[in-house]
This record gives sequence, C-alpha cells and structure tokens, in this order.
Amino acid sequence: MAVSRERFEREKRNLSRLLSFNRRDFMRASVAVPAMGAVYFGYRELKGSPVRAGIVGTGNEGCQAMIDQSPPGYLEYVAYHDIRPSQIARGRRAFQTLYGQTAGNKVKFYDKYSEMLADPNIEVIVIATPLWTHAKLAVEALKAGKHVFCEKLMAHNITDAKAMVRAADNAGKLLGIGHQRHYSTLYADAVKNIDQGVIGEVKYIRAFWHRNNALTDPVTGEIRDSWKPAIPADDEAIRSVVKEYGYDSLEQLIRWRLYDRTGGGLMAELGSHQLDACSIFLGHVHPVSVSGMGGINFYKDDREAYDHVYCTFEFPSGQVVTYSSINTNQLEGYGEVVMGTRGTMMVLNERDVSLYTELDPKKRERDQAKAAAEAGKSGGEPDATNKQIKETVKLPKPGEATMYSAASLGAAAAAAAKSSEVVSRGYKEELEHFAYCIRHPGEGQKPRCDGRVGLADAVMALAANVAIKGNTRIEFKDSWYDPASPDVPDPVPADKSLARSVPVRRRRVSVS
Ligand SMILES: NC(=O)c1ccc[n+]([C@@H]2O[C@H](COP(=O)([O-])OP(=O)(O)OC[C@H]3O[C@@H](n4cnc5c(N)ncnc54)[C@H](O)[C@@H]3O)[C@@H](O)[C@H]2O)c1
Repeated sequence: MAVSRERFEREKRNLSRLLSFNRRDFMRASVAVPAMGAVYFGYRELKGSPVRAGIVGTGNEGCQAMIDQSPPGYLEYVAYHDIRPSQIARGRRAFQTLYGQTAGNKVKFYDKYSEMLADPNIEVIVIATPLWTHAKLAVEALKAGKHVFCEKLMAHNITDAKAMVRAADNAGKLLGIGHQRHYSTLYADAVKNIDQGVIGEVKYIRAFWHRNNALTDPVTGEIRDSWKPAIPADDEAIRSVVKEYGYDSLEQLIRWRLYDRTGGGLMAELGSHQLDACSIFLGHVHPVSVSGMGGINFYKDDREAYDHVYCTFEFPSGQVVTYSSINTNQLEGYGEVVMGTRGTMMVLNERDVSLYTELDPKKRERDQAKAAAEAGKSGGEPDATNKQIKETVKLPKPGEATMYSAASLGAAAAAAAKSSEVVSRGYKEELEHFAYCIRHPGEGQKPRCDGRVGLADAVMALAANVAIKGNTRIEFKDSWYDPASPDVPDPVPADKSLARSVPVRRRRVSVS
C-alpha cells in the first residue's frame, strides 16, 4: 500500500468517526445481532418457520460459509449431497457443530442429487460445488420447483449463466448468487459515502487480490497453493468412478480451479467479487471495454489457470478500473482503492475501510510552513499532511447515520453494535435475506444479487478472461447481459489455454 501503516490506521479511525460510531463499534456493528443485516438491507425477522434447505457441495465454502454461517432462525438444512467421501464426512461434522450432535445427525445425506431434488420437504437448494457444475445443478433444481442460492461465480460461461436466469424466470422461483459484498455492511457504508460525494468525483479505482504462494510451508518446506490441496486418502475410494461425474481424474475433481474446463481462473474466483464492487462504486454501471494480460509465471506444473492476471476496465464517463491478482507478493492483500477528486476510500480485506482527504493547495502551503516552523522548534520532521487531513474530515453530528437505509438506523446500529467484534463478510445476511424473500413474497423483495446481477458479474469476469488469455482489448455489448439473447463474449481459444509466460505482443480486436 502506498501509505504508511501509521497513516492507514489513523485514517481508518477518521472514517469510523465519519460513520458516526467509533471503530470498535463499527467492527462490532455488522455481526451477531440478526437485526443488523436487516437494518442495513431492509428486511425484518422471518415470520413462520425457517426455510428448509438442501446443500450440494460440502467442501470449503459449503462448510465454512454456507453451513457454519447459516442463520438458524431463517434457514434450516434438512439434507445434503456430495460425491467425495472426505467431504461427506466433513458435511456431517459441520451439521453436528451447527445444530448439535443429535439434530446434526438428522440432516439427511442423499447419495444421488436427483433424489434430494425429489424430496418435497426441501424448498431451497444451496449450491457450493466447482464452477463448471453450477448451471446444470441449478437448472435441474429450478425445474424441480426449488429456489436456488448458488455460490459465485454464477457459471462457467455466459451461455450457462443466461440459461440459469431463464430457468428461474420460467419456474417462477428465486435465484440468488453468492457475491457476499452485496450484504456486507462495510461495503454498504463505503458505497453510501461515495454516493453522498464524500470523496468527490471518482475517476479511477485500483483493485487487487495479491497472495504470496512463494513462501514455503514451514513444516513441509513446499510452496503453498490453496488451489492444489493434497488428495485425502478417503477419496481414493472414488478414483475409478470420477468420470461418471464428468471429471477426467480425481486430481481434477479436487483441484478443479487449476483447469479451464472446470474453473475460471483468478478472475472468476477472486476478481469477480471486486469488479462487482467497483461497478457499484461507479454507480451501478457496466464497463465499456476491458484489456488484459497474464500468464503462468510462477508455478511449474500441468495447470491451465494463470497465476498472474492484470486487466484494465474502462467505464462510461472515462472512469478506469485496473485489476491485478498475483501469487508472488502479499503486501497489499485484497481490496479496492477508490480515488475521487476530494479524497480516497480504501476498502481492504473485507475488514477495514479508511478515508484520505485531498488537500487544498493553498492550505497545504500554509500548513507546510506552519509545520516546518513547529518542526524547527522541536527538531522533528514536519507533519503538515497529516494535520491537514485530520482537519478536512467532516464529521456528522452524533446519531446521524451514513448507512444504507432507514431513519432509525443510528439507534439500531448502536444497539446492534453491542454484541460482537468481528465484521461480517455478508454470508449470514445473504442467506437471511434470501430466506426472507421466500417467506414474504408479498413484500416484493428480491435478492440484492439475483440472477441478473450475477450474470452481469459473470460477464465482467469472463470477458476479462477472454481479454487476458487473448492479450487483447474487447468491447462489451449490451446483449451479453440479456438472458434472452444468444450473444456472449468470444470463448477462450483452445490454443490460449496452454501454459505460457507473459505475452510479448498486444493485438487489438473487436468482438462481434
Ligand atoms: N463467496 C465466496 O467468497 C467464495 C469463497 C470460496 C469459494 N466460493 C465458491 O464456492 C464454490 C465451491 O468452492 P470450494 O472452495 O468450496 O470448493 P471445494 O472443492 O472445497 O468444494 C467443492 C465440493 O463440491 C463437491 N462436488 C464436486 N462436484 C460435485 C458434483 N458433481 N456433485 C456434488 N458435489 C460435487 C466436491 O466433492 C467438494 O466437496 C465455488 O464456486 C467457489 O467459487 C465462494
């Protein structure tokens, strides 16, 4: 990050003041109390029994987010399905932890997905499987009369994503996509402040997700890669049958992110979250174009997914978003730096927001002179910049809300703030609201990230993949976002999916 840790911490505190309650309360504000998501996103406690759900895919996201963080008062799991023995056992343990030993054992395991879909007790199917399976599983569930909440990225390609939207429309069922930033109070606050002009006119956002897998594991001495986990011994039992599920090998089933047919690379897994946020920061707009480059510049194995990607999106009115995702440096972590004419909003790691104000040149001169004079007296370094920033942050009056919704927000937030320390990433809230929409159809609410929003996110991520793999600039078409249109971004040419280093030549092509 281009600012000192000290300044970062100071500006984070400034923003917390701007948000009208201190950082500690701000951190507390979004979790634990069921009402907190409701306060921000306009729903209430669920009337009636929790929505009954079945989940397919009890791997990392299934267990750690969709089960562990599911809201019992809103959604109750009654069934699950997976195909790997290790993950079937893991799912059982997750339900035991969530509901207790006895109730957790009552969550029914289905050996076949079709049988779970035939269970009339199930209202919702939650999908947390590898990317390439989403569309098939979702369309089958919608046709079986279930609502579907599907993890991001919505689908492996835009044709499939459009089929999901049409299937939901035809079935008259809800389709929600798990881009949890739509339910993050942290992002809600950031968006609200940007919308209110706190940082002025935004022309540039720098977004990134940087990890360092070059650091070796202290125990094994091997380079780290969460995308290439070890093969659990229990899963060897299904090695000979994985082809029945469409996988070439057990390795491909478990390391699906590494291969083009089963995953969508860094843009699908990481970039899609952040481009979604950027388009909201810029006023819910679609990009005009994207250009990109990337390569397999670190790992040396059979993977097809690039380990470094870089792209530049142009938005209407000349706004630009640059995005990078790398595997060889983790200084910055992940987040978005939103740069406006009056200030900069920095949202980092789904945990911190900080605000930096731009300086008035005349005031800067005066303060620099004053600071230099003071430094002369004390012998220290002048610190005019920081003083000015402190002065230029405008604080609201006590109780004034800067968050999304209602008039009573200040009081509600303060009440909610009393009970926890951790900022919710939005998993609980997205499931709460999805269940609320099902139980309260008369209120006309719909998931904040429904099929059409998820389709737009998929268009951005997958069009970026086309640009990155082709080392090209491509222009977006409105028809890509239309579920009724067959138009899609060009598929990635087969010869571009081969491992290679950073391309050397840029080409400019237009996409018809
Ligand atoms: N919202 C987020 O922040 C977030 C974070 C991580 C992952 N995800 C998404 O969640 C999804 C799952 O990711 P993950 O990290 O849990 O992967 P994972 O490999 O840990 O889990 C996938 C699970 O699906 C099962 N599975 C595979 N094919 C199946 C099939 N045909 N039928 C039934 N089960 C099948 C696997 O056995 C495994 O248990 C992906 O789409 C990923 O992008 C979202």
